[in-house]
Amino acid sequence: MRAVRETHSPMTTASAAHTQGFAATQRRDRWWIQPLFTVVALSAFVVYSTWAAFQGTHYSFGPYLSPFYSPELFHAAGVETGHAWLGEVPSAWPWWLPFSPALLILWAPGGFRFTCYYYRKAYYRSFVQHPAACAVGESGSHAYKGETKLLLIQNLHRFFMYLALAFLFVLWHDVWKALWFENETGGTQFGIGVGTLVLFANTTFLSGYTLSCHSFRHLVGGGLSCFSECPTGRARHGAWKGVSALNAHHQGWAWVSLFGVGFADVYVRLCSMGLWTDLRLL
Ligand code: FES
Repeated sequence: MRAVRETHSPMTTASAAHTQGFAATQRRDRWWIQPLFTVVALSAFVVYSTWAAFQGTHYSFGPYLSPFYSPELFHAAGVETGHAWLGEVPSAWPWWLPFSPALLILWAPGGFRFTCYYYRKAYYRSFVQHPAACAVGESGSHAYKGETKLLLIQNLHRFFMYLALAFLFVLWHDVWKALWFENETGGTQFGIGVGTLVLFANTTFLSGYTLSCHSFRHLVGGGLSCFSECPTGRARHGAWKGVSALNAHHQGWAWVSLFGVGFADVYVRLCSMGLWTDLRLL
C-alpha cells in the first residue's frame, strides 16, 4: 500500500487561518488599516453625497456647476441657474416627491462606482469582511458562492460604463463653460478662476477612472483572438495598450476621483454660500 505524504501548501495554511474565527490570523503586519480606511472613506462619501444630492440648492456658482448636479436636466421652480438643459421642473412632478436635479442623474455615476470591480473587492472586504484581508478569519462561514442571486446585478457594470463615458463629455463641457465669466455688460469673457482648476482636476480624475475601467479595456481590446484579424487592429492595439497602462492604476484613479468629485461639490457649494471666495487667476 502506498503511503500518502501530507503536504502543507501556502493555500492550506491560508485556509487554516480562515477557520480560526473572525479576524483571526497569523499575519503580523497592519492588515486592518486598509479595510478600516475603506469603511471610513466610503461611509463619509456616501453620507456627504446623499446629503448634497438632496439639498437641491447651492450647487452652482457663476459658470461653475457641481459635478453632483451635472447634467442639470431641470432646475427647481424659481431656482434659475443657467445650466438646466430643459428649463424648470415640469409642474406634473409629484408634490410628495422632493425634487433635486441631482436625484435625476446621480444613479448613473453611483451605479458605475457601486458595480466597479475594484470597489466590489474593497467593500466586500471592508464592510462584509468576507474576508477582511488575505489569510484573515472571516465574518461568516467560508462558503464562497460567487456573485450569484442578487449580486448578479453587478453584471450591469458594462452598461453603467457606457453612461459614464457619456457623462465625461458633459463634464468636459462644464470645464469649458467654467472658462467664461459674466462681465459688467452682461456678456461673457474668457477667464480662469480657482474653481475652473478644481473642475478641470475633477474631470481629469474622473476621466482617468472611467478610461481605466476593466470593462472599457475589454471594449477597446476585447472580443478578438488576435489584433491582426481586425481591420482596425493596429489602432485598437494601441488604444488597448494605453488603456492597460491606465488600468494598472485603477485603484488609485478610483480613490483620487472619489475625493476629487466630493471636493468639487464642496468648493462650488461654499462659494455659492458665500463662505469661500473664488479667486480669479486670469
Ligand atoms: Fe472600476 Fe469599471 S472596473 S470602473
